Amino acid sequence: MSTPIDAYIEKNQGRFLEELKDFLSIPSISTLPEHRPDIERASEFVAEKLRGAGLEKVERIPTEGHPLVYGEWMGAPGKPTVLCYGHYDVQPPDPIDMWDSGPFEPTIADGPHGRRLIARGAVDDKGQLMTFIEAFRAWQAVHGALPVKVTVLLEGEEESGSPSLEPFLEANKEALAADVCMISDTGMWDIDTPAITYMLRGLVYVEVALHGPSHDLHSGMYGGAVINPANELTRILGELKDERGLVQIPNFYDDVLELSDAEADQWANLGFDEAAFLASAGLRTPVGEAGRSSIERIWSRPACDINGIWSGYTGQGAKTIIPARASAKLSFRLVPQQDPHKIYDGLVTFLNRRTPPDCRWEFKSHGGSRAVRVGTESPYLEAAMRGLESTFGRKPVLMGCGGSIPVVGSIQRILGFDSLLVGFGLEDDRVHSPNEKFELRCFEMGMKSQAAILSEFAAMPARRVTPPRSTVA
Ligand code: BES
Ligand code: MN
Ligand code: MN
Repeated sequence: MSTPIDAYIEKNQGRFLEELKDFLSIPSISTLPEHRPDIERASEFVAEKLRGAGLEKVERIPTEGHPLVYGEWMGAPGKPTVLCYGHYDVQPPDPIDMWDSGPFEPTIADGPHGRRLIARGAVDDKGQLMTFIEAFRAWQAVHGALPVKVTVLLEGEEESGSPSLEPFLEANKEALAADVCMISDTGMWDIDTPAITYMLRGLVYVEVALHGPSHDLHSGMYGGAVINPANELTRILGELKDERGLVQIPNFYDDVLELSDAEADQWANLGFDEAAFLASAGLRTPVGEAGRSSIERIWSRPACDINGIWSGYTGQGAKTIIPARASAKLSFRLVPQQDPHKIYDGLVTFLNRRTPPDCRWEFKSHGGSRAVRVGTESPYLEAAMRGLESTFGRKPVLMGCGGSIPVVGSIQRILGFDSLLVGFGLEDDRVHSPNEKFELRCFEMGMKSQAAILSEFAAMPARRVTPPRSTVA
């Protein structure tokens, strides 16, 4: 069903696209300190966008890390309050030489679904967070108001584990009180089928270094007669999984739950296209824990992966050395009930039991988050489903997700309400990879869906009595 807001979005699409391109040209990489000025610029950019969409009390809130951006619209008394979350930071673009165009020079290209926008952050999450901001703008332009109360919280540290977010939520529980949180940072089922994600995996991210000789050694003078940390580290990391793909860390599977029959049936009926999933990565062969389907491996089984590994000489040509140390970055994807601290401790025990002679380990934790499940019985979820269905003309799919969004668990625990993960990405969007893209069709349908979901929320009773609002500090 097409609405005046849809017509407004269609008419103004060109402008929305140009502004998104401006946003994407800011390299707001949160993990790299030298990009701090770009983070500042990106936070100013989104704050300005919120003001342009008619939000009030828009402010950039300093934290120990990168600024949060807040805005609100309280002009719908008696209506529910929706907290909208997004992140304006992006992942590093490396490896740069694998991009077909500059990662921060947004480029339009043609693909099987029409035009697409290519840039770091296109789908994760700048393009997606703009879907709700533009929906606000469209509501304001067409109706001069939003149909519900809205608070917006945008952060600049999601890609580095959201270290400043929990203290902020703790300190501002009342100002952030809402009926539901909306997050657009996940995907659709396919280009024609919208989805709501109801489970996310958790994460433990650890950097390890194995130190051996006091300095790099000549590999001829010493090779074969002394310990080599690179040889040892790769051998030990090779023991992390057995030949059946099971992680060998002590007690790793203790808290892992088996899928219920009902859920297993529901997933089996989704018609997951394993070949297409593998093809999106240029692969053909499913790999992982023995006896599990690909969808189970991604959505409901834990995983252990080396994300980066380095040691010794990696420059051009040959340099014959035995390195003094070897390092790796490891990620563990967790499922409900697994405790990030237990998994971290388990890894430390696993490695300490294997310390080679004269060597020592160094560990650096890059944070962790628990897996989350979002209740699927909620009337807000049903309202969001209706909004998606009216936009796409198709019922949305309830799906899992292998990725992590730590804020969902934090909001559940600290603020006490659930998040609706309504995303508009596709499997082949190359999230965190070179040539990340966002389909313009997904962008347009995303904006229209957000506008329609707001209408559906407006028809619902506010669940909570709105407390007197205190200003965000
Ligand atoms: N938007 C992603 C999560 C995601 C990835 C959702 C793929 C759907 C499909 C989010 O920005 C992200 O990348 N999260 C990180 C966790 C963070 C702590 C670094 C992740 O999952 O690696
Ligand atoms: Mn994201
Ligand atoms: Mn991400």
